[in-house]
Amino acid sequence: MKAKIIGVIIGIVFLTGAIAVAVQNQGAKDIALDGGKKGEVNFPHYLHQDTIGDCNVCHDLFPKTAGIIKDLKEQKKLKKKQVMKKTCIKCHKAKRDAGEKTGPIRCSKCHVK
Ligand code: HEC
Ligand code: HEC
Ligand code: HEC
Repeated sequence: MKAKIIGVIIGIVFLTGAIAVAVQNQGAKDIALDGGKKGEVNFPHYLHQDTIGDCNVCHDLFPKTAGIIKDLKEQKKLKKKQVMKKTCIKCHKAKRDAGEKTGPIRCSKCHVK
């Protein structure tokens, strides 16, 4: 009986911990995205989480999984450059036009070889 209660308590503690970790999974701080022939794109993930706030601005288009953009492009569920145009550059241009702090728009400012 005692062992059972302890077991349940350990179970609850473990579960609570697992939920807390799941809620806080922000992914990597910086992510190197595959940019095809144009070269890799260094993406500051936390900087965007802090400035944008809403995860879904990006993660509506692709799930919170490492390497998913490349996978979805290979499965033809995302077009080539779709994320780049519809997410990255679209927002950077909108911010620039609004006179706000923004990110790169020129190719070589994102892609490195
Ligand atoms: C400006 C766009 C953008 C925003 C906003 C954003 N993410 Fe991401 N996130 C990405 C990209 C890009 C990837 C990498 C996908 C890939 O590797 O194909 C990613 C990957 C992830 C991953 C997968 C693990 C990893 O490290 O690659 C997790 C988890 C994640 N994001 C969580 C979050 C959470 C939580 C928020 C909100 C607090 C958030 N993201 C906001 C763009 C964004
Ligand atoms: C804000 C950052 C950014 C800028 C600026 C940018 N790119 Fe990209 N580019 C990306 C990201 C992220 C990807 C990978 C996701 C995708 O394909 O949508 C990518 C993917 C690509 C790909 C690979 C597509 C594939 O799947 O084979 C090419 C080619 C490319 N970009 C060319 C360009 C050219 C040309 C310019 C300038 C006119 C440019 N990029 C500007 C971020 C950027
Ligand atoms: C909803 C708006 C939004 C989206 C979507 C977005 N960005 Fe940005 N990005 C910003 C803003 C705002 C800044 C300037 C942040 C700052 O300097 O405080 C920025 C800055 C950057 C920088 C420069 C960071 C530095 O240290 O100067 C890079 C690189 C960048 N973004 C890449 C990307 C890529 C790649 C994507 C797509 C996967 C993307 N961004 C999607 C708003 C966005």
